[in-house]
Amino acid sequence: MATSPAEHPSAQPFVPETRSLRTLSEAAAACRGCALFEHATQTVFGNGRRNAVVVLVGEQPGDVEDRKGRCFVGPAGRVLWRCVEEAAIPREAIYVTNAVKHFKFEQRGKRRIHQRPSAAEIDACLPWLSAELAILRPPVIVALGTVALRSLLGRPLTIDAAREQELTLGDAHLVATYHPSAVLRADDPPPIEAALTEDLRRSWQLARREGGGARANAAAS
Ligand code: URA
Ligand code: SF4
Repeated sequence: MATSPAEHPSAQPFVPETRSLRTLSEAAAACRGCALFEHATQTVFGNGRRNAVVVLVGEQPGDVEDRKGRCFVGPAGRVLWRCVEEAAIPREAIYVTNAVKHFKFEQRGKRRIHQRPSAAEIDACLPWLSAELAILRPPVIVALGTVALRSLLGRPLTIDAAREQELTLGDAHLVATYHPSAVLRADDPPPIEAALTEDLRRSWQLARREGGGARANAAAS
């Protein structure tokens, strides 16, 4: 008996065989791999250079990203790009994406309140992230928050526990850190922002140690 996407949600049937990020991104616009496309405005795919050496993985687009169609262009993005600048990572060294490509929310009056994606939704969307990483093959992958970490590791792990460990994913270093929205939610934001910045600085050091600096400089020139 054929199984419906509702029973086994997965982006896999929508992911083309390609070495082109643009082809991938165009195909993702038509993804119906899980139910999240139904209420969201559009697929928000990753962006950045093909030879980026640090790949930042967020959770899912927020309200602003859903409307604009780009990752991290809302309030969490302001925190993220401030930390990236403070960590002195050149923007051309970065590719940014999310574990889940559609915005999941609950409508309350006029407001759309972010909802955490389920494990099934995170797994359903993983083929897109895997395809991005297979093309990029970055030396360093940064998981921003627990949803990205859950997606990449395939099992739950807290950020505090992950920050104590040297994680890898294939040939890449996997650096786990706080999601920038944790800074926005914190009673005492400065220590969280400092930790996020420090983790980004370490990611850039790792990328340069792996020869990524030369690759990023070549990309910039
Ligand atoms: N939060 C995320 O995790 N990703 C975005 O793109 C925006 C907010
Ligand atoms: Fe496809 Fe991911 Fe969107 Fe679900 S969230 S429809 S798997 S792109």
